Amino acid sequence: MTQAAPKPSIRTNPQVVKAPPQVNLLGVEILGSGEAVPTTIVTNDDLAKIMDTSDEWIVQRTGIRQRRKCDPAKGETTSQLCSEALANAIKNAGIKAEEIDLVILGSVTGEMTCPATACRVAASVGAVGAGAFDLMAACCGFVYGLNIANDLIRVGSYKTVAVIGCDVMSRVLDYDDRAVSVLFGDAAGAAILRATEDTTRGMVCGKMFADGSGWKDLYIPQRKWDLPPDADPATTKLGVLHMNGREIYKFAVKRFPDLIQQTLDRAGVQPHEVDHYICHQSNARMLDAARERFGIPADRMHINIDRYGNCSGGSVPVLLHELRGMGKCQPGDLVMFVAFGGGLTWSSALWRV
Ligand code: ACO
Repeated sequence: MTQAAPKPSIRTNPQVVKAPPQVNLLGVEILGSGEAVPTTIVTNDDLAKIMDTSDEWIVQRTGIRQRRKCDPAKGETTSQLCSEALANAIKNAGIKAEEIDLVILGSVTGEMTCPATACRVAASVGAVGAGAFDLMAACCGFVYGLNIANDLIRVGSYKTVAVIGCDVMSRVLDYDDRAVSVLFGDAAGAAILRATEDTTRGMVCGKMFADGSGWKDLYIPQRKWDLPPDADPATTKLGVLHMNGREIYKFAVKRFPDLIQQTLDRAGVQPHEVDHYICHQSNARMLDAARERFGIPADRMHINIDRYGNCSGGSVPVLLHELRGMGKCQPGDLVMFVAFGGGLTWSSALWRV
């Protein structure tokens, strides 16, 4: 009996195997930006009335003077702040909400794990049918989002992408823990990114990093079994942020300048050639130290932590929007975004905006 010739497999069948499509890479522009912060301002003196702290201690160690705090009774929540920031960005970009293909939200304080907050935000602004997902990278959420959105747009998969960074940290703060609760504030910022034929615009280089072995230096346990072995289940509160401040400080003080240097090296750019450094606002001392190390003039390394505190995923996009509002980050400028945070995560994105 003659054996039948083997059927061509899916790998060898010439009908199935096609050459990969030719991709013409596109440029990416930041078409618009927006922000939203809660109305309530909490000063250091306000905190000193409810805990053993002082304006002097907080300013000296962190540079923070005040922060914003959501009042859920007034409807101020993560999805509300994100919707307002995105609506402002859409207006600023001069586009219609329906033009958005994808909404990426970097947040660790979304209301629920299902649905993603991004889905509700997309619906509330009228970005009907756009893809939407939440991205959890703590303070790096927005910079991770910029990395992802840039690549999706460059290859032509999406044309108009909204990247939002937002955290309502007040929801996960333990006001009995003065070492942590004085540091954070609530805020949302958003950017509209769009494909352009000008291929010089967009991310020049960027990268996302993580080292999960450091997770317990910054974490929000939900259940007892989330706790690390050395935490006492009887005294460690659930649902609030726990931070090993010294370890995080050590991590950030090393990673932050190393990441800037690495990104500059990869791009073949000198520190003074970057027009604006938009860095995560975790501590003014760290920002000042990096500024001095790289010889960056004060008007290029921007700081707003004094007014907003550490807004986690919201800090970088709020700063971006503030600078754009001041006429900075003009087309052609080189802008370095850098963030680091829980995970542990760290990420950079050097853009020709
Ligand atoms: N007010 C007054 N005193 C305080 C407060 C406060 N709010 N918090 C702590 N202290 C006390 C401590 O109890 C301690 O007292 P003791 O010496 O009697 O024990 C003293 O101040 C010094 O405490 P340290 O923790 O050693 O203070 P340090 O100089 O390390 O500064 C800080 C603390 C500012 C938190 C610092 O460790 C830091 O910046 N860490 C990084 C934090 C950070 O950036 N976190 C977020 C990054 S990741 C992200 O953004 C998600």
